[in-house]
Amino acid sequence: MTATLLRPHAEQRYADELSALEACDERARPANWRLSPWAVVTYLMGGTLADGTVITPKYVGNRRLMEIAVATLATDRALLLIGLPGTAKSWVSEHLAAAVCGTSTLLVQGTAGTAEEAVRYGWNYARLLAEGPSERALVPSPVMEAMGSGRIARVEELTRMPSDVQDALITVLSEKTLPVPELGTEVQAVGGFNVIATANDRDRGVNDLSSALRRRFNTVVLPLPASAEEEVSIVARRVEDMGAALRLPETDRALGEIQRVVTVFRELREGVTGDGRTSLKSPSSTLSTAEAISVVTNGLAMSAHFGDGVLRPSDVAAGILGAVVSDPVSDRVVWSEYLETVVRERPDWADFYRACREVGQ
Ligand SMILES: Nc1ncnc2c1ncn2[C@@H]1O[C@H](COP(=O)(O)OP(=O)(O)OP(=O)(O)O)[C@@H](O)[C@H]1O
Ligand SMILES: [Mg+2]
Repeated sequence: MTATLLRPHAEQRYADELSALEACDERARPANWRLSPWAVVTYLMGGTLADGTVITPKYVGNRRLMEIAVATLATDRALLLIGLPGTAKSWVSEHLAAAVCGTSTLLVQGTAGTAEEAVRYGWNYARLLAEGPSERALVPSPVMEAMGSGRIARVEELTRMPSDVQDALITVLSEKTLPVPELGTEVQAVGGFNVIATANDRDRGVNDLSSALRRRFNTVVLPLPASAEEEVSIVARRVEDMGAALRLPETDRALGEIQRVVTVFRELREGVTGDGRTSLKSPSSTLSTAEAISVVTNGLAMSAHFGDGVLRPSDVAAGILGAVVSDPVSDRVVWSEYLETVVRERPDWADFYRACREVGQ
C-alpha cells in the first residue's frame, strides 16, 4: 500500500490542472515561466479551458489583486502579500510559485531565530573542515537555489525575521547577485527568479521592514472576504478538500452549519449583526476564515466518529467557543452577551443555542 500524503504541495495536488493549462497556453511567457501570466491568473481564479478542462478556483476574491500580483512577478520587483491572519497570504504564495515555476518548496520560514544562512548560504561543516571552503562544502539557501535556477523563492512571515537578516535580501533584490566571498565567486540570478514574501498585519512593529527593503517590493494587501456568501464558499470549498484528504464523510449536508459558523464569526468580527440592527462587542480573537475552516473540519470529524455522520450544532459549538474565547475573562463576557442577546432570539437557532450553553458550562 502506498502511503497517502497528508498535504501534497500545490504543484503535486494540481499537477493535472497545471499541465492542462500549459498545453493550451499560447501566450507569451516570461523567461523560465511555466505558464503565461494570463494562465497563472486562470489557475488562481479558476475557469474552463478550450478543451473542457475545469480549473478550480484557488483564491476567492478580487481578480484584479491576483493580476497585480502576477504582473509584479514578471518585473524586477518582488511581491509582498500583506493582510490579517488567515487571509490566504501563504496559500496564494504557494499557488503562485507552483504556477509560475512549478516549485513552491523553495521556502524560508521567518521567525525571530531565522539566521542569515537561511537567506544566503551555509556550510556543511564536516566538509568545510576536511576540504576547506569549496563548492561542495557550500549549502545553498532556498533563495540562492531560486536565483541560480530562475525560480521563485518564498519568504514566509518576513517581518518576524530580525532586521539584519531581512536586509540580506536587499542585495539579492537590487543587485540580483549573491556574493560568496569565501570562494571568490558569486551567484547571479537567472531570468525567472523572484521573491514572494508574506507578512501579517498584526505583526506590524515587530521587525518593521526597512524602507530600503520596502522599496524593492510591490505590496498587495489581501482583504477579508467581502461578503458572507464569499466566505461561506471559501470555507465550504476548503472543508471539502480537507475532508477528502482526511477521509471525512460527505460535506454537502454541512452547508447550513457552515453558514452559521461564518455568520457568528462575521458578526463578532464586525461588531454588528448581519441585519445591521444590533451592535456587538468584538472579542480579542482574530476569528479568521482559516479558523472557521478548522472549526468546521473538527466538527465533521466529531460527527463522523462520535455522532451520526451529519454535522450538528453540537459538533461545532465547542470549536466556536474555543475560537471566540482567547482571553478567558473578557472574551467570555462578549460571548455570553452574544449568546443571550442574539443567538437566543433566533427561532431557528434553538439547537445551536442549547449546544453552546452546554459546552459553555
Ligand atoms: N479569499 C480566499 N480564497 C481562498 N481561500 C482562502 C481565502 N481566505 C482564506 N482562505 C483559506 O484560509 C486558509 C488559511 O490561509 P493562509 O494560511 O494562507 O493564511 P495567511 O494569510 O497566511 O495567515 P497567517 O497570517 O496566519 O499566516 C487557507 O486554507 C485558505 O485556503
Ligand atoms: Mg501564512
